[in-house]
Amino acid sequence: MEVIVTPTPESAASAAAQAVLSGLPAGAGPVLGLATGSSPLGLYAELAAAAAAGRVDFSTAKGFALDEYVGLPAGHVQSYREVLIREVCEVIGLPMAGLNVPDGSGATQAELEAGAAAYDAAIAAAGGVDVQILGIGANGHVGFNEPGSSLSSRTRLKRLTARTRLDNARFFEHDGDVPTHCITQGLGTVLEARRLVLIATGAAKAAAVAAAVEGPLTASCPGSILQWHADAVVVLDEAAASGLANREYYDDAARGLALAP
Ligand code: F6R
Repeated sequence: MEVIVTPTPESAASAAAQAVLSGLPAGAGPVLGLATGSSPLGLYAELAAAAAAGRVDFSTAKGFALDEYVGLPAGHVQSYREVLIREVCEVIGLPMAGLNVPDGSGATQAELEAGAAAYDAAIAAAGGVDVQILGIGANGHVGFNEPGSSLSSRTRLKRLTARTRLDNARFFEHDGDVPTHCITQGLGTVLEARRLVLIATGAAKAAAVAAAVEGPLTASCPGSILQWHADAVVVLDEAAASGLANREYYDDAARGLALAP
């Protein structure tokens, strides 16, 4: 795992974008795993700037969302499909036809579970995710894999924790409007991406980041799965890094592997 600490949220966004771009294959049809939420917005702006400068072309890219709410009407402004159209497709130039989001519209548990299984199959059919962009919840969740999620879980129907519903209430008119269920990529699904890039900024994430990066690999902190991945990059600003014990080594390691001191 590579841990990159930068001074500000802006410099973290720039470093995270570099980690994404260097993980994409040359040529057409890169496959991005897409997180919603506040954390990756600066990163998406940096990817847009790279595309505008001709350093990357997302016009043939595919995107796979991490998660989707269950039960919001089609076109709901807070559905993650709509959020990703606004915050990613229209920003970086990823075509809407290439955007894949778990299907949260099923009326029954069986329909929702069938849609979740089909989503994992669609990721596999696309050749897998080249780079999965991740944020982390204050409780350590990634995607909507709340603490206790199986480390080998697949895309599936989940109930949201009260804490996550409260955290996300800021996007809805009334607290009670936040859906109770979601479809989320599983931790096993996320681990199959060829590179993971997690971005976290702000002091509110410091404890979750410390647990994910330096705590035990445990379902109690789903973000700790990054320790199990062979190509995981964690990009932080100073505030999000403030709980890390091994900070000095991360800064040393960032100087690279050249043998000279
Ligand atoms: C987003 C997602 C979540 C968020 C996390 C952090 O698709 O699945 O895991 O990444 O809740 O959210 P923000 O970035 O808003 O703090």
